[in-house]
Amino acid sequence: MDIKFSSRVASIEPSATSGMTAKAEELRTSGKDVLSLSQGEPDFPTPEFIASAAKETIDSGKFFSYPPSAGYLDLRQAIANKYLSEYNLNYQPENVVVTNGAKQALSNLMLAVLDEGDEVIVLAPYWVSHFAQVKIAGGNPVVIKGKLENGFKIEVGLIEKAITPKTRAIVFSSPCNPTGLVYSNAELRQIANLVSRHPNLIVVADEIYEHINYTQERTCFASLPGMFDRTITINGFSKSFAMTGWRVGFLCAPGQIARQVTKLQSHLSSANCSIAQRAALAALSHQSGAIDYMVKEYKERRDLILSLLTAIEGVEISKPQGAFYVFPDVSSYYGLHALAEIRNSQDMCDYLLSEAHVSVVPGRAFGDDNCIRISYASSAEVITAAMIRIKRALEKLTLTTESPNKNRISALNENQEKWR
Ligand SMILES: Cc1ncc(COP(=O)(O)O)c(C=O)c1O
Repeated sequence: MDIKFSSRVASIEPSATSGMTAKAEELRTSGKDVLSLSQGEPDFPTPEFIASAAKETIDSGKFFSYPPSAGYLDLRQAIANKYLSEYNLNYQPENVVVTNGAKQALSNLMLAVLDEGDEVIVLAPYWVSHFAQVKIAGGNPVVIKGKLENGFKIEVGLIEKAITPKTRAIVFSSPCNPTGLVYSNAELRQIANLVSRHPNLIVVADEIYEHINYTQERTCFASLPGMFDRTITINGFSKSFAMTGWRVGFLCAPGQIARQVTKLQSHLSSANCSIAQRAALAALSHQSGAIDYMVKEYKERRDLILSLLTAIEGVEISKPQGAFYVFPDVSSYYGLHALAEIRNSQDMCDYLLSEAHVSVVPGRAFGDDNCIRISYASSAEVITAAMIRIKRALEKLTLTTESPNKNRISALNENQEKWR
């Protein structure tokens, strides 16, 4: 049967992260020792006190019926309290919608605010789903790309230039997936000033890596002057609390937006899983110990992976300041041959998987084909072994073929001395 699919699905690609992870799994099933650095997922188990809260909830026999569409009131209150105590922000439960992961908070939001042809400025490199979700909602993603030499940060002047009468929103993550960049308070203030001058513009501030931040500064965009009513704060429990499988995310937004998002949610998923919401409530009550431990570990792994990557010729890096990814430029190897020519980031990832048995994600999916995304949410042993394998695989390319980029590779190598 010839099924006709919607233009919505035709306009998007499957998630590259899941794609590479599936390829890695296939290779592993065939008996190969594959090291997977493609999944954006903490390798820590969910802290015990959170899992216990879920078990107690089940044993209590309560919470087995549909929760309210926006989420349980006490959880929304606890989320509002968190923003009051951490950022002095006066969210009320009516401003909070609990969703099936931050991913659904974002998709509900895009569906709520975009009409066909509306534009959303997407700061790149971007998280894959920011781009796809704008498309699914019928919007037009307008991509502005940061450069590695500026730590991938985007100047506010470039954002201003991209604004048209059709622009509805700006979306970005900070700390950022995939680059690890963290915008400073001063830089975010510049964006806030720009937004103040454009009354129809809203900001979708994806702060899901809020705690995984190695700088001294942690800014919630909504707390900047004039931004409370203009910001939709996206957050969730997946990354900070190692709760990816529990699927609890949320957004905090002006009441009128929260109401429309809730209306959508009531039709799309009814609500988020009741047991997972009780676990999330427990997570908020005991925050700091578990988070601090994991963040300290991630920082050590960040330093480890940087030291190993900088020992690889021809790889350019911008030092990540948050999240658990590094996004190196490997394009000096493009044009070389393995079994076939390596032309782009997908070819490079396929080569690294088949030659080194290491899975990483093509930068193309994040809006930068020169780079690959490596997740360092893995043990020091796995990170070390994977970097050794990648180094060998890349050396093999340089040694076995005549490189059109040979000079560039050695120049980059001298440049990287500064990291050692
Ligand atoms: C920037 C960013 N936002 C949102 C999400 C979605 O997280 P969740 O598991 O809560 O859906 C991710 C997950 O990788 C992410 O990297």
